[in-house]
Amino acid sequence: MAILDIIVAPDPRLKITAKAVKAVDDDVRALMDDMLESMHVANGIGLAAPQVGDSRRVIVVDISRAEEEPDPIRMANPELLWVSDEEGNHEEGCLSLPEQYAEVERPESIRVRYLDRSGEEQELDATGMLATCIQHEMDHLDGILFVDHISSLKRKMILRKLSKAKKMATA
Ligand code: NI
Repeated sequence: MAILDIIVAPDPRLKITAKAVKAVDDDVRALMDDMLESMHVANGIGLAAPQVGDSRRVIVVDISRAEEEPDPIRMANPELLWVSDEEGNHEEGCLSLPEQYAEVERPESIRVRYLDRSGEEQELDATGMLATCIQHEMDHLDGILFVDHISSLKRKMILRKLSKAKKMATA
């Protein structure tokens, strides 16, 4: 397994539309496993392939707490089959927007269809934090960041901060 570098915004690689995987083969499985490991090392609860510079529709999620058993979910080609009318407001962060947080409104519950690590089709019902996390990661596959859901003023503030931090780091 390998620890992958996580791309920090603003970066054009975070704005791409990722492509469906044709089949979950060894290469896709390796990507899923590397992404999970990289996410755990970075203390994240979700990661999408474009965040590590890969343009395939793959996401990983694990919302278990440090004291709990790990509960990793690997998804290829995730698709929302249903979303609730009820919306929820949850604070979101992102490994590609380090130390930036904002409340985002999204459907509170979802049903998602995806291919698992064996290439089997699965359906999952999720609510609350898991639903939020899956929707956040799926957004990445279409080049959407959580800051795209908040006011443009707040978004610009956050992106400007990150740009500055990047310049300082390379100066
Ligand atoms: Ni993210």
